[in-house]
Amino acid sequence: MKPVKIGLLGLGTVGGGTLEILQKTLPEIQGRLGQSIEVVAIAVRDLNRPRSVDTTGIELTDDPMQVVTHPDVEIVVELMGGTGLARDLLSEAIRLGKHVVTANKALIAEFGNELFALAAENNVIVNYEAAVAGGIPVIKAVREGLAANKIEWLAGIINGTGNYILTEMKKPGADFAAVLKVAQELGYAEADPTFDVEGIDAAHKLTILASIAFGIELQFNKVYTEGISKVTAEDIQFAEKLGYQIKHLGVASRTDNGFSLRVHPTLIPNSVLLANVHGVMNSVLVKGDHVGSTMYYGPGAGAGPTASAVVADIIDVIRWREQPQKARVPALGFVTEALQSAPV
Ligand code: NDP
Ligand code: HSE
Repeated sequence: MKPVKIGLLGLGTVGGGTLEILQKTLPEIQGRLGQSIEVVAIAVRDLNRPRSVDTTGIELTDDPMQVVTHPDVEIVVELMGGTGLARDLLSEAIRLGKHVVTANKALIAEFGNELFALAAENNVIVNYEAAVAGGIPVIKAVREGLAANKIEWLAGIINGTGNYILTEMKKPGADFAAVLKVAQELGYAEADPTFDVEGIDAAHKLTILASIAFGIELQFNKVYTEGISKVTAEDIQFAEKLGYQIKHLGVASRTDNGFSLRVHPTLIPNSVLLANVHGVMNSVLVKGDHVGSTMYYGPGAGAGPTASAVVADIIDVIRWREQPQKARVPALGFVTEALQSAPV
C-alpha cells in the first residue's frame, strides 16, 4: 500500500516533537492504522540551524509554499505559528484538497470560521486538537465523549506558561521576568510571550472550546481578556495565607441571552481540585446536563505533550480521509440557527 505523505511547516518545539514521535513510534502507529506514513517535506525559516531530530531523506526548504504545493503531500501539518503566512498557506493547502492539522490556536480562533468554510467546500479535514490544552485531548472529549450532553459551562487553566509562572512565583524571591525566561527556554511560551502573560493565548483557546461545546461560531473578539502580568508575589502569598490559590482561568457559560466568555486571574479555595493544578499542567472542567461535572488534566505545553496531540490528529485524518465530513471539527451537537447568532 502506498504511504500517506505528510508535509510539516515548522520544525521548532512542536514540529521537532512531532517528527520525533513519527520516527520513534512509526511501527506502532502504522500497525494501528494498517497504513504506512512518511514525512516527505519540511519547511523551516533557517536551513542552517542545527536540528536535534534526524531529517535524513526528507526535503527541507525555507519556502513553506513548496511543502503546501508538493505533489506528494496529502496532509499539511502547520507548526509555524502566526496568523498571516500560516493563514495563506493553509487556505492554499485546503484549496488544493489537502487535509490540514495545526496546533495554531491564534489562527483557528481568529480565522477558523473562514478556514472551516473553505474546508467544507473542498471536502477536507482541518484538525486542531493540539491548539487547546497541549497534550489533553479535550476537544475530542467535548466533541465526542460528551456528545450526548448539552454543555452548561466549562472552566479551566488553559495556559501552561501562565500556570508555570504563578506556581514558580510562590517560591521566595522569585522574579516574574526570570520565571518567564525559564518558561521560554522550556519551550512553553508563545513566540511573543505577551500572548501568554496577557491572557490572549487563553482567550484563543477559550474561543475554540466554547465554539465546540456550545455549537457557536468562533468569536475571539468577544472574550473578556485579562492576564497575569499584574499579579505580584505578594498577591500570591496573601492568597495562600487566606487558603486560596490564584489561578488564571478561562470560563465559558450560558447566560439568559447568549454566552459569556472570559479569562482572568481567579481566587480558588485550596480544597478545590483546580487549585492544586501546578506548573505547566492544565485542567479543564466541563459540565454537561446528563453527565454532570467532568475534569480533564495533563501537560498543557511543551514538545512531547503537544506533539502527542498533533500526531493523534494526523492519525485521525488518515483514518477518516475517505469520509472527511464525518471527521471534520467542529462536528457540533445541539446547534441551531439561534445559537449560531447568539450574542457572546
Ligand atoms: P517554534 O518557534 O519553536 O517553531 C516554529 C517553527 O516554524 C520553526 O521551526 C521555524 O523555523 C518555523 N518557521 C517560522 N516561520 C517560518 C517561515 N516563515 N517559513 C518557514 N518556517 C518558519 O514554535 P512552537 O513549536 O513552540 O509553536 C508552533 C505552533 O504551535 C504555534 O502556533 C504555537 O502557538 C503552537 N503551540 C505551541 C505549543 C508549545 O508548547 N510550544 C503548545 C501548543 C501549541 P526555524 O526553526 O528555522 O526558526
Ligand atoms: N504558550 C502556550 C501555553 C503553549 O503556555 O499554554 C500551549 O498552548
